[in-house]
Amino acid sequence: MHGKSLSKEYINDLYKKIEPLKNSIEEKLKIIYNLFPKKVVFSTSFNIEDQLISHFILKHKIPIKIFTLDTGRFFEETYKVWEDTNNFYETSIIAFFPNHNNIEKFLSCHGPNSFYNKKENRKKCCYLRKVEPLKKALKGNCVWITGLRSEHSIERSNLNELEWDDVHHLIKYHPLYHWKLKSIEKIIKKHRIPYNSLYDKGYPSIGCAPCTRSIKYGDNYRSGRWWWENNSKKECGLHTRKNDV
Ligand code: ADX
Ligand code: SF4
Repeated sequence: MHGKSLSKEYINDLYKKIEPLKNSIEEKLKIIYNLFPKKVVFSTSFNIEDQLISHFILKHKIPIKIFTLDTGRFFEETYKVWEDTNNFYETSIIAFFPNHNNIEKFLSCHGPNSFYNKKENRKKCCYLRKVEPLKKALKGNCVWITGLRSEHSIERSNLNELEWDDVHHLIKYHPLYHWKLKSIEKIIKKHRIPYNSLYDKGYPSIGCAPCTRSIKYGDNYRSGRWWWENNSKKECGLHTRKNDV
């Protein structure tokens, strides 16, 4: 299936199969895994919604591979929750790292914090540290699971829970797409699932340390990301679609 497009009908039929299962995320994940054995991956940035998805996968021992794109610029708190997750579930989250030659060239040319100076540099840094390694991580797979939610932003509220990714040529599935933060937080706390300690300090959305700051109650969910850029579309390129500008 990799490399060619699945029909809208196929995705719609699959959605009809999983939709009646409502909040039984583990059952939905099992159906998808059984349709594409060994070809389903989940990308985690260790945000709170990602931690809940990891919980559904790991607690129910669904053999979906979980990977993170370690940009090399995560917060210490993020590395801590990564370690805690490995220990809590006796697992090993798979790491993908940027190409060191490309990073060396980029840093030698622009310095370590050039993302603050020019949007072009910010995009390049995100490309090298996230988008390029993502391609490696998705290679050969049929389904990419993410923690994207409708509540994140206006742009993200126009997605579908299950959709065709025309950039990576696979199915993209966002199991918590319609979930609210409060419901996620409730389950995380009830089951004592490890989560990033920055979350309780005003960081609902956590990316790289130099590019994320805390927000005030009521601020837009992603307003602490790349806060010095004043456009509303704040994306690093991981979730870009072909027709996005
Ligand atoms: S981002 O595009 O702005 O960085 P965001 O932080 O909201 O994305 O996370 C949305 C989803 O993208 C996460 O739930 C996760 O599936 C994926 N993602 C984002 N950053 C990473 C990362 N560093 N490693 C793996 N997956 C990631
Ligand atoms: Fe680079 Fe910032 Fe993008 Fe991380 S979020 S990859 S540090 S520009």
